Amino acid sequence: MKKIIVAIDGYSSCGKSTIAKQLAQYAGYNYIDTGAMYRAVAWYCLKTGEEPLQAIEHIQVDFRHHHVCVNGEDVEGQIRTLEVGNQASQISTIREVRAFLVREQQAMGIAKGIVMDGRDIGTVVFPQAELKLFLTAAPEVRAQRRFDELAAKGEHPVMADVLADVNDRDYRDTHRQESPLRQAEDAIVVDNSQMTREQQLAHVIALFDQVVEA
Ligand code: DC
Repeated sequence: MKKIIVAIDGYSSCGKSTIAKQLAQYAGYNYIDTGAMYRAVAWYCLKTGEEPLQAIEHIQVDFRHHHVCVNGEDVEGQIRTLEVGNQASQISTIREVRAFLVREQQAMGIAKGIVMDGRDIGTVVFPQAELKLFLTAAPEVRAQRRFDELAAKGEHPVMADVLADVNDRDYRDTHRQESPLRQAEDAIVVDNSQMTREQQLAHVIALFDQVVEA
């Protein structure tokens, strides 16, 4: 069966990584979370106080055992906070930061057989991807999911703040000058507001099978 590239883009907290991981497992593909790479650069800049432009001159961002690493240090457990997420959204507007990470991402796709999720995968990183999905869900549904995630981690989120953050991040991600989040013309929209995870997975697997068996 042919190996393909699956590009999954969409708003924050609409379950991209969940479906990307599930599909990668089904297909026996590698899963790459590009948001984690932006978060890793953001985490490094917050920690060291370095400017992003300076940081990308000497840091290395990669994955080891599916954990994102900066200069070999596993930072997976430290990047999923609101603070790092906001900083990631900000540094992701910088052209040089994007070029630095896009180069790495394209190298990871050379052998195909990957599922990559982010904001610009189907439009910029792999415009030639054989299957492109654009995930979406209502902002309130996404805010509730993020609230639950943060609460499960022991944080004490305030719903109004979480919703405001979702809306701010959507605005920034779709209005920035460099590679704004937008749906590729040939992407298939999956609105999962009313879908269970099982329904969504079955739908996406059917789309994947259609492409690889064609
Ligand atoms: O998906 P996430 O919330 O982990 O992403 C964090 C931020 O990184 C998000 O606000 C936008 C940015 N990002 C991006 O600009 N391009 C990508 N391919 C992935 C993430």
